[in-house]
Amino acid sequence: MLEKLAQIEKEALEALSKIEEEAALEAWRVANIGRSSPVMNVFSQLGSLPKEERPAAGQRANQVKTALETAFAEKKEALRQAALARSLASERLDVTLPGRPFRRGRLHPATQNLRRILSILGEMGFQVYTARDVETDEYNFQLLNIPPHHPAREMQDTFYIETGETDEARRLVLRTHTSPGQIRAMREFSAQNPQNPPPIRIALPGMCYRFEQITARSEVQFHQIEGLVVGQNITFADLKGTLSEFARRMFGRNARTRFRADHFPFTEPSAEMDVECFVCGGKGCSVCKKSGWLEILGCGMVHPVVLQNGGYDPARYTGFAFGMGPERQLMLRHKITDIRYFWGNDVRFLEQF
Ligand code: PHE
Repeated sequence: MLEKLAQIEKEALEALSKIEEEAALEAWRVANIGRSSPVMNVFSQLGSLPKEERPAAGQRANQVKTALETAFAEKKEALRQAALARSLASERLDVTLPGRPFRRGRLHPATQNLRRILSILGEMGFQVYTARDVETDEYNFQLLNIPPHHPAREMQDTFYIETGETDEARRLVLRTHTSPGQIRAMREFSAQNPQNPPPIRIALPGMCYRFEQITARSEVQFHQIEGLVVGQNITFADLKGTLSEFARRMFGRNARTRFRADHFPFTEPSAEMDVECFVCGGKGCSVCKKSGWLEILGCGMVHPVVLQNGGYDPARYTGFAFGMGPERQLMLRHKITDIRYFWGNDVRFLEQF
C-alpha cells in the first residue's frame, strides 16, 4: 500500500509539472485530488487492510493528499502570475503616444451667418421673432397689399399646397418671403392692447420657398431675414440710419451704403440698399460686376394698408421694414459661384467654414 501511495504521488506530481494552462489544471485537480481520485480511493480501502498496517498507511495517505494539495495551490498561483505577466506585456499602453485627431462637427455656414446677422441686429435692439413656413395665401400675399393678379402669385413662383379648400384666402402656400411674419407680429402685438398697440422692433429669420428651376443662381429654398420697426414718428431717416449702421457692423466700419428707389407692394416708398463692394473696396471687380456696389437688401416704409392690416392705425403709427437674403450675402463675401452648394451637403464645401 505504501508503495502504491508513493507511485500515486510520483505520477500525480509528474503530470502536474507538465501543466501549462488553467483548464488542464482543473482537470488535474478532479483526477488527482477529487472525490474519486486514487488517493481518496486509498482512504476507502484502509478498512480492508490488516489492522497493523492501517496507521502507517493512513498517515502516508494523508501526507500524499496534503502534498498534492499544496503542489496544486502552488501551480495555480504560478499559472496566475504567468497569465498576469503575459497580459502586462501584450496589453502595454504607451501613454506617450500622441492622441488620435478628433474630427469636430461645426455649424453650417448658413447657420453661422444667420446667427451673426441676428446677433448684430440683437445688439441694435431687435428681438428675434419667428413665424410659420406654411402660410395662407392671405398672409403671404393679400394682407401685404399684393393684389390678386400680381405676378409674384403665379403658380410658377409659388408652391401651393393642395388642401381641397376652394376659398382663395385659405389656400396654403410655402411662404415665398418672410414678410407675412410682419402681419403675424403686428397682429400679435396689437392684440395685447388694441387701443394703444406697443412699438415693435423685430428680426424675423426663416426659410422661404420658390417654385424655381434650380440653377447656379437660384434655389427652391433660401433664408431671409426680415426686419420690422413700428412706432410713432418713425421716418425714412430712421430706416437709413439703422440699415447703414447694420452694414457697418456687418461689413466693416468703413462700409459705405447707398439707397436706390425700388418698388414693393407692402412698402412705400421702397428702396434697395447697396453696400460698397467689400471684395474690391469699391474699385470695381468681377464680384460687383465693375460697379463697385453690391445689392444686399430691399426695404421701405411700411405701407399704410399693411399697418392697418396689422392692427396699427396708420394715422398714428409709421414704420419701416427690410428683407435680406443671407445666403446671397455669403456668396458675395466668399465668392461662392453656385448657390446649390448650400444645400448640397458636400463636406468639401462645408469644411471650409
Ligand atoms: N419681401 C421682399 C422680398 O422677398 C423683401 C422686402 C422685405 C422688401 C421688407 C421690403 C421690405 O424680396
